Amino acid sequence: MRLFTFFTTSPARSLLARWSRVALALGSALLVAGCDLNFWRMDGPQSTINTAGPVAKNQLEIFYVTVWVTFVIFLLVAGVLAYAMLKFRARSEADEHAEPPAQSHGNPLIELGLIGASVLALVIIAVPTLKGIWFTHDVPEAEKENAYTVNAVGYQWWFRFEYPNEQIENVGQLVTSNELVIPAGRPVHVNLRAMDVIHSFWVPRLAGKVDMIPNRANFLWMKADEPGYFWGQCAEFCGDSHAVMRFRVIALGPKEFNEWLEEQSSPARTVVSGETADANKATAQFASVRTDWKRNEPGYTTKYDLDPLNAWREKQFPDKGEDAAQIAQGRKIFKEKNCVTCHTIRGHDGIGTNAPDLTHVGSRTTIAAGLLENDAAQLARWIMHPEEVKPGNKMYHGIGAMRGYVTREADGKVVTNITVSPQEAQALVAYLHSLK
Ligand code: CUA
Repeated sequence: MRLFTFFTTSPARSLLARWSRVALALGSALLVAGCDLNFWRMDGPQSTINTAGPVAKNQLEIFYVTVWVTFVIFLLVAGVLAYAMLKFRARSEADEHAEPPAQSHGNPLIELGLIGASVLALVIIAVPTLKGIWFTHDVPEAEKENAYTVNAVGYQWWFRFEYPNEQIENVGQLVTSNELVIPAGRPVHVNLRAMDVIHSFWVPRLAGKVDMIPNRANFLWMKADEPGYFWGQCAEFCGDSHAVMRFRVIALGPKEFNEWLEEQSSPARTVVSGETADANKATAQFASVRTDWKRNEPGYTTKYDLDPLNAWREKQFPDKGEDAAQIAQGRKIFKEKNCVTCHTIRGHDGIGTNAPDLTHVGSRTTIAAGLLENDAAQLARWIMHPEEVKPGNKMYHGIGAMRGYVTREADGKVVTNITVSPQEAQALVAYLHSLK
C-alpha cells in the first residue's frame, strides 16, 4: 500500500515521467544511429518505392494516396487527443479525484460531419484503387499489339520461363530458368503457372504480385521503362525454401533482346580443344568470393558498385582461359552422375524437365534460383552441398518416388547418396560455365 501511494504521488510521478523521457530519447538516438541507413533510403533491389515501370508506379501511387489520407486522419485524431490530454490534465490532488464532467451526445452536426468525412476519405482511396485494378489487370488495349508474351512456371523452388513465340525446330518453345529476359519499353504479358504448390510471382520494381496456382490460368503484365536488372521473389509460402526462391528479370533494348533470343535458341556450346574463346572478357564477378558462408546465407553481393546489367552482359561471353579437357570431363560427369535425369542441356545430354534447363546456364548471373552468384566457388558449393544452401531441394532429396537419392540414418539424419568430390565439382563447374 505504501508503495502504491509512493507511485501515485506527484513527485514520484514526475520523476517517472522524466526518466521515461530520457529513455525514449536514448532509444530514438540508438535507433537512428544503429540502423542500416539504407533502410530509410528504401532503394534496395526489391524496393516497391523505387519503381521502374508503369504497373509498379501505379501500385505505388495507390499506396501513397492511402498513406496520405490515413496520415491526415492520424494527425487529426492525434491532435485532438493531445489537446484533450494537455487541456484537461489533472493539475491538483482535487482534480485527480474529481467527478467526470457532464457527458454530451446526439450532436447532429458532428455526427453527420464525421460520417461525411469518413465517406470522403474512402472515396479518395477508392477512385485510384478501382482505376488501378483495371489498369494493372492486363496490358492496356492500345498497347496490346506491342505486347510480348512469356510463361512463368513455379516449381519448388525455382522458376521456369518459356517463350511461346520462339519456336526452335524439332524442340518446341525456348525454355530458360530463373533469369527472365524481357524486352524493355514493351508491355510483357506473363502467364503464371505452377507445377506443384502455390507460388507467387513478384518483381517489386516492375509489378506484383500474383499467385501461381496449379490448374489455374493466372497472369499479370509488366513493363520495364528502361533496360535494367531487377530482382524477383516468390511471394507465397511454398515450403522449406520459399524464402530463397528468387529470380531475376533482365530488360534489354530491342536489338540486344533479339540477339539474346537468337543466342539462347541455339543448342549448347561445345568447346573444342585448341580453340580459344572469341572474346577475352573476364568472367563478371559481382563480389569477392567468400569462404565463411553460413547456412542459407545469400552468397550474393550487397554492394552495388558494379552495374549488374553490365555484369550480366559480360556473362554472355566465354570465360578467359577455358580448359577444353576439363570441360569434356565435366560433361562426362554430368552424364554419369545422373544430372541428365532432371536437367536438359539441349544439343548435349539430358532431356529432364524436373529441374532448370541448363543449355545456357553459363550466361546467367545467378544459380540456385537467384540465390547465389554464378561464380566458380558458389557453383561448386551448390553442386557439392545443395542442402546447405536450399533446404529440401530436389537435387539432394530426389523427386517424389525417386528412390536411392537419400538414406535416412538411425538418428533420422538424411544423407544424399549422390556425392560429388571437389575435383568432380571443378570439372562440372568448368563444363557448366562453358555453356554460354
Ligand atoms: Cu515458391 Cu514461395
